[in-house]
Amino acid sequence: MSAVENHAVLHRPLTLPPALEQSLAQLPVARQSVVRARVQAQWPRLREILQGVYGETAAINSWLETLAAGAVDCAAARPDALWQLDLEREQKPRWHSSPMLGYCTYVDKFAGTLNGVAERIAHLQELGVTYLHLLPFLKAGTAPNDGGFAVASYEEIEPALGSMQDLRALSTKLRAAGISLCSDFVLNHVSHEHPWAQKALAGEAGYRDYFHVLDSAEDVAAYEEHLIQIFPNTAPGNFTYVPTLKGWAWTTFYPYQWDLNYANPQVFSEMSKALLALANNGVEAFRLDSTGFLWKRQGTNCMNQPEAHQLLQALRCLTNIAAPGVLLKAEAIMPTRDLPPYFGLGEQAGKECHIAYHASLMSASWVALAEQKVEILADVLANTPALPAGGAWMTYVRCHDDIGWNVLRPELDARGPEQRARLLQASRFFAGELPGSYARGAAFQASSPDVAHGTNGMGSALVGLSSATSPQEQVQAIDRLLLLYALSLFVGDVPLIYMGDELAQANTPAEELISRNGPDGRELHRPYFDTQAYALRHAGETITGQMFGGLCAMLAARRQHQNVLHSALPLSVFATGNASVLGLRRGSRAVGLFNFSAQPCTVALGGAVALDLVAPQRAHGNPVELPAYAALWLDVEGTV
Ligand code: GLC
Repeated sequence: MSAVENHAVLHRPLTLPPALEQSLAQLPVARQSVVRARVQAQWPRLREILQGVYGETAAINSWLETLAAGAVDCAAARPDALWQLDLEREQKPRWHSSPMLGYCTYVDKFAGTLNGVAERIAHLQELGVTYLHLLPFLKAGTAPNDGGFAVASYEEIEPALGSMQDLRALSTKLRAAGISLCSDFVLNHVSHEHPWAQKALAGEAGYRDYFHVLDSAEDVAAYEEHLIQIFPNTAPGNFTYVPTLKGWAWTTFYPYQWDLNYANPQVFSEMSKALLALANNGVEAFRLDSTGFLWKRQGTNCMNQPEAHQLLQALRCLTNIAAPGVLLKAEAIMPTRDLPPYFGLGEQAGKECHIAYHASLMSASWVALAEQKVEILADVLANTPALPAGGAWMTYVRCHDDIGWNVLRPELDARGPEQRARLLQASRFFAGELPGSYARGAAFQASSPDVAHGTNGMGSALVGLSSATSPQEQVQAIDRLLLLYALSLFVGDVPLIYMGDELAQANTPAEELISRNGPDGRELHRPYFDTQAYALRHAGETITGQMFGGLCAMLAARRQHQNVLHSALPLSVFATGNASVLGLRRGSRAVGLFNFSAQPCTVALGGAVALDLVAPQRAHGNPVELPAYAALWLDVEGTV
């Protein structure tokens, strides 16, 4: 939403329902006209969207009024600093596009507690981080709890990590350092220990209906026929029989994560209330977990249903009223070409989520590394859809989940039915199973040995640092990791650093893995922050120092040369004449060359290199010489 949008509506004020008028009247006087304008802009849409989902009965109409009035109450309760932030961001709705830089980590792995995170702000600032995604820190069910993705209370912090007061203090300190705090918001499911589940188990009226509980094995089978499996080995199937309920709870992920029933409007209002409360505690961005799964429809794969989008749009309307400075990020790990609906389509363009993950770019860059060929990567970039105003791509190299290979199926299928085998090859390559493979990752679970699902492992293990037997091999491994980061930083509106990559940290040690609860293979890439490596980050002669120094040089260049590197400038792929070298043009001047091959090569450009944006002292001729696994960001005069 923009201020312009609000003011336009002011000219033809709507009659608002009494419940809303009442909440507006209770706002501090200084906030009244602003919030009224927001309500005028959002209320008609909110009503229309949710009536579309839930129908237009008297009960729904009064529920809707209470829902919107709740958002106004949140605007009233918004702390002054956040209120001011909202006002600034309403004036600058694209505040979140480049040069934003994200960092993603678990609280306990990075710094023990929320207070510990505050002590690592200097590290984030050194990198130039402006957006910190802390993986789930709300009170979780008893372990195993999917790394906190099984939430037992949206109102409490996981006791071992701190308190709500600590969260407020941390978000304030981060804000002072120019860093927005992003929290996961697990929308699709709750822990079976959440009070709603407990009440359902206790037979309390109304709570069974917070969940999808199927009565018969036949119903389960009818749904299963069309559903995919997320954890085929560790949690096969999508339903869990719960004897106390005498039924099957829908559990898309683990059996202890019960999917919420959004066909029940009460679920939507409770969840949106929880989100707005967290926003008032200082969370500036929400990673909306598993957004694709929110709505179930028999006979479909129950993913990406129209109602899921309507619910997200309604959530956006509510944040636009209560906390318009807040960002919504869709966690929808699917082929990039399928993501535009998450930003809103047609009349809703730009009115759903602000940010989505560019998973295809991530996976394709790993395939390019394994194959030393960039054709799939080039296809992915060529197929990347344009986004509505205010939409942004989050790019990344690694994250806390596995590298999912199947997002690349559209690009492979377009090249022929036999091409999917390349994903299996990549998976085997990164598991270190192919001759000549330097990688030390592990295959994520799969439904059959012939299907590639995903790959686990820290970036440095996947690029060969763990297997390197000589300083040359170590340097080459670091070059590969820097190459992947160079691409992510060149392409993304909000590129993300995954904790530990900046120090080239290795996989979680084997002995540590044994002590982790449960058989989740993703723990392989969830190590503790390595404070010893951190101490070496400026020691240029060490491998850690080379990774950190190389990354920081690119980060500094990205900040310094926004005039030519800004992600709002159009991005295009150009042919380099070499199957291993990706050529990208940003705007009319910046050129990125990315050599995914172990062989040095040359690339002839149409124009002359005016400046190496990362290493200004380095001169380049034409053709440009590219060492093995090198990335160059150049300012080029003339065409490519
Ligand atoms: C998301 C998270 C993943 C988690 C799942 C279920 O995909 O990234 O880690 O297992 O949701 O909550």
